Amino acid sequence: MTIATTEKRLNIFPDPPQMFAQAAQHAATLLRAAQQQGRPAFLALAGGNTPRRLYQQLCRLPAEQAPAWSRVRFFFGDERAVPADHPDANYRMAQENLFLPLDISASQIHRIRTELPPEEAVADYQQQLLGLPQHDGWPCFDLVLLGMGNDGHIASLFPHSPLLADDRRSFTSGEVTQLATRRYSLTLPVLNHARQLMLLVTGQDKATTVQQAIVDTDPATPLPVQKLNPANLAWYMDSTAASQLTDGTPV
Ligand code: 6PG
Repeated sequence: MTIATTEKRLNIFPDPPQMFAQAAQHAATLLRAAQQQGRPAFLALAGGNTPRRLYQQLCRLPAEQAPAWSRVRFFFGDERAVPADHPDANYRMAQENLFLPLDISASQIHRIRTELPPEEAVADYQQQLLGLPQHDGWPCFDLVLLGMGNDGHIASLFPHSPLLADDRRSFTSGEVTQLATRRYSLTLPVLNHARQLMLLVTGQDKATTVQQAIVDTDPATPLPVQKLNPANLAWYMDSTAASQLTDGTPV
């Protein structure tokens, strides 16, 4: 029985600009490495506010450091149950901060089609995910970008949620009690079969959750983020988010 060994790396920076600059370099390196295998690079984007600054940084990479953007296939880790052009849509945030600035063609973008009835949207996205390389029968992303909520949720996998427990499908949807609304999300097995996960966490309001997640202060109630065990997991944090791990001085 092989035990998944996770290479967990904590990358802590004095401030968000330095963190996003380094995370962008790392993401570009991973995508270029995938492309050097003679295939497109497969990337799953995160939602929420934090990744917006990473996308802006990716757009500023000098050509010699950037991947061949025309050979990246863009997917989404999760989506809200809103139209694609809704202010809350993760798709719209990516469109404004990444796809338009980089002139990404529509054929490279795999949008979660929230305009369909939920189960059709899930089936449609599962079909789109079949286009990825497979690892142990699961779609295998070269890189999955994630944020983390104050409750330790990742993508739209919230504590005690049936979406978090759904380990039979690659993509899922359902009502999220904490939000009283529907969400769409990649499932935990897909996240854990990625070649690399990058967790982007900034701000003092995340510090307690970071400490619980990393120091595992409450093993009886693991947070969703603690269920991540891909081959490679890289935390990218600023010193405020990491302030309860150390005295706040960047390593
Ligand atoms: C979403 C995200 C969600 C987000 C966290 C952190 O659709 O909201 O997928 O998982 O990454 O809630 O959000 P912030 O970056 O805004 O703190």
